[in-house]
Amino acid sequence: MSKLIPILLSFWLVINASAELTTNKMCKTCHPQIYKEYETSAHSKSTIYKDEIHKKIWDLHPNKKKNKYTCAVCHSPGDVRLLKALEDGEIAMPQDDKKHHEAISCITCHSIQNIERDPKTHDKIVLVDNDKKRPTIFAADELNRDNDDVYQRKTSIFGMFKSRSRSPYHDIKHSNDIFYTGKLCLGCHSHFKNEHELNICTTDDEGAIDEESNCITCHMPMVEGSYSTVPMSKKHRYHGFAGTRNKPEMLSKYLKMSFKQTQTGFEVTLENEAKHNLLLHPMRLGLLKVTIHRDSQEIKMKTIPFFRILGTNGKPSMPWLATEVIKENMLKAEEIKTYKYDTLLKKGDKVEVEFGFYLVNPEMLEKLNLSDNEEAKKYTIFKTESFGVLK
Ligand code: HEC
Ligand code: HEC
Ligand code: HEC
Ligand code: HEC
Ligand code: HEC
Repeated sequence: MSKLIPILLSFWLVINASAELTTNKMCKTCHPQIYKEYETSAHSKSTIYKDEIHKKIWDLHPNKKKNKYTCAVCHSPGDVRLLKALEDGEIAMPQDDKKHHEAISCITCHSIQNIERDPKTHDKIVLVDNDKKRPTIFAADELNRDNDDVYQRKTSIFGMFKSRSRSPYHDIKHSNDIFYTGKLCLGCHSHFKNEHELNICTTDDEGAIDEESNCITCHMPMVEGSYSTVPMSKKHRYHGFAGTRNKPEMLSKYLKMSFKQTQTGFEVTLENEAKHNLLLHPMRLGLLKVTIHRDSQEIKMKTIPFFRILGTNGKPSMPWLATEVIKENMLKAEEIKTYKYDTLLKKGDKVEVEFGFYLVNPEMLEKLNLSDNEEAKKYTIFKTESFGVLK
């Protein structure tokens, strides 16, 4: 078995020749359905060319003037040229070229051997050295977890290839635990501290410990369709990565809503089953809207906002300048919270509970130059539930 040499992202000098040639389109040949989903994901659109929200924030970021696209380590780790320029302290700016458009590519994710923890800034991904003709790909497979060799192509004495893997293109290693717990995701998602050591965005580790319920099981649920065109399977892991931008409805079951009538009115309880704050990015604004439907009348209750606003000296500021969290009202990991309403209900009333969100808090749109961006302005209904009043 060939020895795998880990390369830290901070040592991109050792360039990974086959990874450079290994494009998403190449994987598409044999994994078309996964590719189709992936194309719709935030991971495939994480560059300034495909994500206008990202671009607008980058345009305001001080590193732009310094010609250092430091976002690349997480937003375009497939762009080896750029990462190397960053490492060498040269001009390191995104170019509208093929490599940059690979974004968070198939091969990048499937080459993550481990993650390097860094509490001071952000964690980093450690990639396997795929500097050979046949890339090694990590994947989970419970049945073959202890048997990596089965998926390696061996050379026979006559110099002919005798394939023992059904993939003509790559080796597969099934023994990497981080593909079972979702820990690979933490390499970019765990936390992100700015220069003032303020944590801008945190996804708690608790979501990547358990093999039963983790980042993968929630955000990449099993869906219909074969994972490849060679061995056929009924199901595969969803590669659109359900989130706030793509397919939020796939996650709504993790927000539980309940209702109780009381002597002075009623209560609505929200339970966040996600193992992190319900919304993570500090630009987001969540809203809890409750409406009583009485005969043909609609009685709207006071809307409750959910946010985490960063700032300096008590005033909101750009995340890179922020020194404190100035206001916070977000449903925390696995939090259960009850909201009381003092409107008396009548028999036959229907109470409609709605949780929705804006990708970008409408109050921030102008400052971020996003007033014309439809996606940023859109209000998404994440979940609604209706409760009938029986007495
Ligand atoms: C020429 C066809 C072909 C190409 C190109 C290809 N694959 Fe595969 N891949 C396969 C086949 C066949 C299997 C199933 C192997 C088996 O089960 O023995 C597979 C299996 C996998 C698995 C593991 C599934 C599992 O749990 O065992 C992953 C992950 C994967 N491929 C990722 C990729 C990525 C990423 C790329 C692009 C860099 C890629 N593949 C390109 C044919 C291909
Ligand atoms: C440590 C990894 C990391 C680095 C470095 C990083 N980001 Fe991100 N970024 C993320 C992750 C992970 C998300 C998704 C978070 C979410 O959706 O809650 C994200 C999301 C975003 C979003 C929100 C997009 C949306 O979905 O609305 C913006 C804007 C953004 N990043 C800008 C930047 C800019 C600009 C830089 C460089 C100056 C940068 N990021 C550097 C990891 C990173
Ligand atoms: C953000 C990281 C990430 C990206 C990007 C990614 N994958 Fe995956 N992929 C995973 C994880 C995690 C799993 C689930 C664990 C496993 O089965 O290995 C997985 C599973 C798979 C599987 C196993 C079979 C199954 O059940 O779905 C295949 C095949 C695969 N990916 C191919 C691809 C291809 C092709 C692309 C690009 C079009 C891609 N992946 C992009 C993380 C990623
Ligand atoms: C029990 C299910 C569950 C687990 C486990 C889980 N999540 Fe989530 N995640 C959710 C729900 C629910 C949401 C909120 C709804 C949405 O984004 O549409 C969410 C949202 C997100 C978002 C988007 C937040 C935003 O503001 O845009 C990211 C990024 C994310 N999760 C990453 C992760 C990562 C990484 C892990 C593993 C460490 C993880 N999640 C574990 C359920 C889960
Ligand atoms: C190489 C870095 C990297 C890795 C590894 C990674 N992500 Fe992401 N992820 C990002 C970035 C960057 C974004 C934000 C892209 C944007 O909106 O511009 C993101 C966005 C997301 C979102 C938000 C999608 C949406 O529609 O709002 C989810 C959910 C998510 N990632 C889940 C995962 C999961 C699950 C894993 C592990 C299987 C994972 N990510 C691995 C960098 C990464």
